[in-house]
Amino acid sequence: MAQKSVVLMPGDGIGPEVVGATVEVVEAATAGDPAITWSEVLMGGCSIDVHGTALTDEVLAECRAADAVLLGAVGGPKWDTTDPDAPRPEQGLLGLRAGLGLFANLRPVKPPPALYGASPLREERIAGTDLLVVRELTGGIYFGERGRTDDSAYDTCPYSRDEVERLARRGFEAARGRRAKVTSVDKANVLETSRLWREVVSGLAAEYPEVELEHMLVDNAAMQLVSRPADFDVIVTENLFGDILSDEAAMITGSIGMLPSASLGAAGAGLYEPVHGSAPDIAGQGIANPIATCLSAAMMLRYSLDAPGAAARIDDAVAATLDAGVRPRDLGGDADTRAVTDAILGALA
Ligand code: IPM
Ligand code: MG
Repeated sequence: MAQKSVVLMPGDGIGPEVVGATVEVVEAATAGDPAITWSEVLMGGCSIDVHGTALTDEVLAECRAADAVLLGAVGGPKWDTTDPDAPRPEQGLLGLRAGLGLFANLRPVKPPPALYGASPLREERIAGTDLLVVRELTGGIYFGERGRTDDSAYDTCPYSRDEVERLARRGFEAARGRRAKVTSVDKANVLETSRLWREVVSGLAAEYPEVELEHMLVDNAAMQLVSRPADFDVIVTENLFGDILSDEAAMITGSIGMLPSASLGAAGAGLYEPVHGSAPDIAGQGIANPIATCLSAAMMLRYSLDAPGAAARIDDAVAATLDAGVRPRDLGGDADTRAVTDAILGALA
């Protein structure tokens, strides 16, 4: 029987609730194959409280040695600060992405037909939507040089050819196994980094003749995403644009509580986490929607743990749960975390 090791980072807010539910679901879906060793660590605000930093070197080293990392969410009002010298929970997440070299962030958006009515967009607009945002995760304005004085501040957005190319390659490769279309999103009419981005992506397209490539300016992409989302297949874009567009795309499924993600590097452990945050307003009440984390765990089984069968069982069980009419609060229902988890476990059985 295969042995795999997963580092669990429940994090802050609703993180522990959705991660706890997901471990139950993964155990049921795998039934010991692979046999997963879970090791729970602190990351985010909970780590700041104990260690004074959101991510310790020990935790990072443990992640490097594992097959995968499963994260709930980090952050909350307790650690909100504008003091540039104070530790912030998000630094742990960014440190993890950089420290593990996780340059490619995959965020699939595929609303199940049972949820077409839950989206604020009309059903005829979203029907058939099946898109994948491939977001660059370790470069750009998130990691560029920054600074401030009393009355001015700046953030820079550097990108190298190599950084753009390795990310775009992930996009083209993903498109090959899908509908063979890549939409590269940039702001090439204004930004120099976007002009480099467009040049590199265009150059790479020659290596993927079976994939259709289009370029789209980010403001236009924001509009097209809500007016004709079903026309997108794979969207490749830089860090900040991908952050914003993936939240926007989440609403196609009716709630950000539905969206999973995988962050991958060239090799080594991948990081799996829901796209939503720590939702401090509902933390500890047992009402958080665990579906995005369950779907993230399915991606983990598929991409890092070599268990595509168990991954498909979780995807199917979530679909069956929604088909049966089970709706957590964020989708307008009243099913709490326990009820949603039990419904998924029931569908798996
Ligand atoms: C995300 C989040 C993070 C990001 C925050 C928490 C730093 O919004 O994963 O999309 O901006 O990347
Ligand atoms: Mg975000």
